[in-house]
Amino acid sequence: MHWCRHQPCRGRGPDQDRPVPLVSPPRRRCLHFPEGGGGPVPPPLSTLPRALPAGAVAAAGERSAMAAGLRFDGRVVLVTGAGGGLGRAYALAFAERGASVVVNDLGGDFKGYGKSSSAADKVVNEIRAKGGKAVPNYDSVEDGEKLVKSALEAFGRIDIVINNAGILRDRSFVRISDEDWDIIHRIHLRGSFLVTRAAWNHMKNQKFGRIIMTSSAAGIYGNFGQANYSAAKLGLLGLSNTIAIEGRKYNIHCNTIAPTAGSRLTQTVMPQDLIDAFKPEYVAPLVLWLCHESCMENGSLFEVGAGWIGKLRWERSLGAIVRGKDEPMTPEAVRDKWEKVCDFDNASKPRSIQESISVLNDALSQIESQGSISMNSTSSGSAVSSSLDTTNIVGRELTTKVYTYTHLEPILYALGVGMSTKDPDHLKFLFEGSEEFCCLPSFGVIPAQTSMFDGIPSLPGLNIDLAKMLHGEQYLELYKPLPTSGQLTSVSTIADILDKGSGAVLLIDVNTYCGKDLVCYNQFSLFFVGAGGFGGKRTSEKAKVTVNPPKRLPDAVLSDVTTTDQAALYRLSGDWNPLHVDPSFAALGGFQKPILHGLCTFGFAARNVLKQFANNDVTRFKAIKVRFAKPVIPGQTLQTEMWKEGDRIHFQTKVKETGDIAIAGGYVDITSAIDKPFAREPLKTAGLQSDLVFEEIGRRVKEIGNELVKKVNAIFQWDITKDGKTAMQWTIDLKNGSGAVYQGPARSSADTTFTLSDQDFMDVVQQKTNPQKAFFSGKLKVKGNIMLSQKLETILKDYAKL
Ligand code: NAI
Repeated sequence: MHWCRHQPCRGRGPDQDRPVPLVSPPRRRCLHFPEGGGGPVPPPLSTLPRALPAGAVAAAGERSAMAAGLRFDGRVVLVTGAGGGLGRAYALAFAERGASVVVNDLGGDFKGYGKSSSAADKVVNEIRAKGGKAVPNYDSVEDGEKLVKSALEAFGRIDIVINNAGILRDRSFVRISDEDWDIIHRIHLRGSFLVTRAAWNHMKNQKFGRIIMTSSAAGIYGNFGQANYSAAKLGLLGLSNTIAIEGRKYNIHCNTIAPTAGSRLTQTVMPQDLIDAFKPEYVAPLVLWLCHESCMENGSLFEVGAGWIGKLRWERSLGAIVRGKDEPMTPEAVRDKWEKVCDFDNASKPRSIQESISVLNDALSQIESQGSISMNSTSSGSAVSSSLDTTNIVGRELTTKVYTYTHLEPILYALGVGMSTKDPDHLKFLFEGSEEFCCLPSFGVIPAQTSMFDGIPSLPGLNIDLAKMLHGEQYLELYKPLPTSGQLTSVSTIADILDKGSGAVLLIDVNTYCGKDLVCYNQFSLFFVGAGGFGGKRTSEKAKVTVNPPKRLPDAVLSDVTTTDQAALYRLSGDWNPLHVDPSFAALGGFQKPILHGLCTFGFAARNVLKQFANNDVTRFKAIKVRFAKPVIPGQTLQTEMWKEGDRIHFQTKVKETGDIAIAGGYVDITSAIDKPFAREPLKTAGLQSDLVFEEIGRRVKEIGNELVKKVNAIFQWDITKDGKTAMQWTIDLKNGSGAVYQGPARSSADTTFTLSDQDFMDVVQQKTNPQKAFFSGKLKVKGNIMLSQKLETILKDYAKL
């Protein structure tokens, strides 16, 4: 028994030592206990028979708090070979979580001799003693129909089949008898086929089914003395792969596990302390998750044991073409290309037979078009992704995403990039009550980054592996100061695709709008290791390029000691990649420790330049460009070295402890203090009509606020909606000082909060409808002191002169 944790492949970026991984691909699910899926919902369980009487369910709930999570009430589960070992653990776990269980076991010895009803009976009694529901079945899996019949007779349906029954007939290869070969195949492979086939139509008709096949590390990797067993066990994977494809449209999922657990099967090969440590209970939760209606995993293979789970997949070398057009293919040519055939650099991970075969079509057309073998070696070593037509990809819009936020997000971001109340001039970025409260300009990457990842995986013809995506460079340009709350809409487009040989670079442009106003523009430069070699261009006129700093000592150097929790804090701004927080995940990526987000280091540098050369005036920050050269470990000290050359501030960020350059070729373009491009007034976000009214009220409050504060003495918050979502918040503070009107939620708590749409607001203000009518028709919602709204009505009537 052995397991092998495959490390994700790592590679180098185009022009850098080690670019920084960006964010995790959405819905990544391997390596850890998988998360809930998001696919189609199975038929409601309310239509299914109840599994346990109410009292029994309550008792089960008291027994185990865990059982409250993933439930199987109403589901009927057939576990083969459930009289002991792993099968017993599955049966108990399913029953504990509400399932009705058929406990099948032939009751023979581990070599498959003899039979007895006691094994199944014992487990059934255990389940029943705990308030669960179970029936025994003593047939061999070779009588598949009878097992399923037991389920139908006892519980009226069959939802889940766990093919688990098994025996061993270990012999070195040449000593395997026909009988030893056949019985292993009959029980493991044919038995699983027969039981599953018997259940199939029931699952298909009810449009729900979950099936588990039990393979083995011996099948995956081979094991001395187990040729018969290895063959049958890997046969189960093939069976599962095809069932998964055929069952998909009926919501029947089939997955395969290769478990390791102490049982009578492993007693002969494992020492007792390992048998005790590798409990079947450390395998069962995976089986339960894979069989839950909310789990969308299908056609996958997992190794599992001791509380660890890993997902396996196929990896295929880039390969090599070994013949030329109109030339015979010779063993000598194979020999000469052998190294290339077996070279796993830039390997791909085909997931389907279509992906597998597409390489052959590519190879054929490459041979036809290039004529001779010698051509092969000039195409950057790539035999697979030749002559990709990038015109299909360039200019394609990826997504449009709306980012809704309050003052919380800019403050969290400012903390994430190291701002502190220790520094008095940081307060305007950290305190929403500050007169000058504003967003750090580099916050502009946050709404943009959420917009682009959804579209990337679906690019046709590109051999893109999100696990091999590295964040190479970043450019951000601002056209307006970022609003401190509201909604920003980001539209991402593929600006260009470059072939760097060892990988492809995608340039993604993201334009971010506030209403109709373009607020900022980002260009993400993403490097996909192994996706190059398609014959594309190496550079692009659309790329924003880095610029080396002047060859003199820096004009200023600012140091920041990052905290151990810097990445843990920064990720709350929306980049949830576990690489930045989970040591084991980081180790799988080849890092000694979780690393800081490249964009976090970017944020440190941006705010240092802003402070040093623009007096923290966000209206003077025009643009920033960086290249991520080396990762930073949280806790290390960042040194931002800056050079002023006119309105361009060149910079680079070094890690003090190592001397490594983490950000290279960076620059910030600022405007001089007298030549400010941006108006300071707040943005008219989302183009709402109500904004004009609030601005007008604001002007009036400035004039006669003192008087109003005396009269009203209350704070009103307005949540203005558009298309059912909050589009803008406004606060009219007629309680403090001489009153104020500002965007965003009340800085101290509101006495009354009103929620209504932009249009309804206008109707009320223009007296097309009265507020009472709007309230009773549900158009206006009021929270807090409803009586105060009468005072407000007067203000709106008197002062919003439109
Ligand atoms: P186990 O021997 O405790 O359980 C197997 C059960 O299957 C036994 O209760 C047996 O009576 C029953 N069975 C055998 N032939 C049957 C038949 N024809 N019809 C119905 N029931 C039958 O062994 P364990 O370890 O729990 O194994 C469960 C499965 O996991 C097997 O398929 C085995 O090959 C597989 N496996 C186990 C590993 C481990 O580390 N325990 C490693 C890799 C695979």
